[in-house]
Amino acid sequence: MFEKIQTPAVLVDLDVARRNIERFQAYADSHGLKVRPHIKTHKMPAIAEMQLDAGAVGITCQKISEAEAMVAGSDRLTDVLITYNILGDDKLHALLDLSRKVRVAVVADNATVVDGLSAAYAAAGATLEVFVECNTGADRCGVGLPSEAAELAARIDAAPGLQFAGLMTYPPVGGAEKVQAFMTAAKDLIEAKGIAVPVITSGGSPDMMTAHLAPVATEFRPGTYVYNDRSLVARGVTSWDDCALTVLATVVSVPAPNRAIIDAGSKTLTSDLLGLVGHGHVLGRPDISIDQLSEEHGRLRSEGDIGLTVGQRIRIVPNHACVVTNMVDGVYVYGKNRAPELWPVPARGKIV
Ligand SMILES: Cc1ncc(COP(=O)(O)O)c(C=O)c1O
Repeated sequence: MFEKIQTPAVLVDLDVARRNIERFQAYADSHGLKVRPHIKTHKMPAIAEMQLDAGAVGITCQKISEAEAMVAGSDRLTDVLITYNILGDDKLHALLDLSRKVRVAVVADNATVVDGLSAAYAAAGATLEVFVECNTGADRCGVGLPSEAAELAARIDAAPGLQFAGLMTYPPVGGAEKVQAFMTAAKDLIEAKGIAVPVITSGGSPDMMTAHLAPVATEFRPGTYVYNDRSLVARGVTSWDDCALTVLATVVSVPAPNRAIIDAGSKTLTSDLLGLVGHGHVLGRPDISIDQLSEEHGRLRSEGDIGLTVGQRIRIVPNHACVVTNMVDGVYVYGKNRAPELWPVPARGKIV
């Protein structure tokens, strides 16, 4: 099926991706939870449309340029949450332009960001929905206390050009209890000020099937679930059969009986370990480890005879699917009744 594809190449089984999308949507529907997938995993409008078809209410992007690429690629992507603190005139202008085309909301975790958004939107006579980002234990962005969330919500509510949209968090793995406690406390404090909290949005594929343990959340933003990857298999939340994305590589050298070299290195698999040992899982060969990468070489090792020959092709489930799709202009989509076809990845490499 993949003989004509030059390696290294990224393959996506659309049947598996669709099954992954539908499985989580069914779970979310059964718990009254809205789904707003993060597009960081696929970066493709066509796959975002599959998520909308299943029932997603909109998409999540991390950066404005990512959102621009997604919106430009589909007139159905009309509701975008950008989960990032936006600063600086250039970005504020780009955000304004985008929000003239589609519904856009952003997050903020500090007064400087809120004030910048307010100045830009008030000057333009426009209104922007803003969430307060809360730190529920992942220790990235986010206000650290429910009282700080309430203070910032009040600032947003009072700011010209802004509308308070609710609370957002990207929790740590296993963080449902913390999400429930933090968000409930913050919501109560904000409502006590007479401000409504329309949406509470949480996310993260590792815990998505236990999202109901934080019932205060009204919306969930899974990203990796669409493709899955070795990190999620290692966490025991999915299986190799549910991994839609693989890297196709060719063995270019077998310099020793227990060592082989493939044509996929860090430029394709990336060096993201996500806490794992090795750089991916060779499908059908759990005995092989990918123990070293240079840009264009991947080194495979086995305890005994590696049993690979020069020219042979293998498929690898990468540690982290999202970073792999950032490395390629296109992925080969295929399915049970679909021959491989190269689809572009328009929102790759979008970092501003
Ligand atoms: C803000 C935010 N929301 C949602 C997600 C999706 O997480 P996951 O890929 O674990 O589903 C991410 C991932 O980095 C994120 O940063």
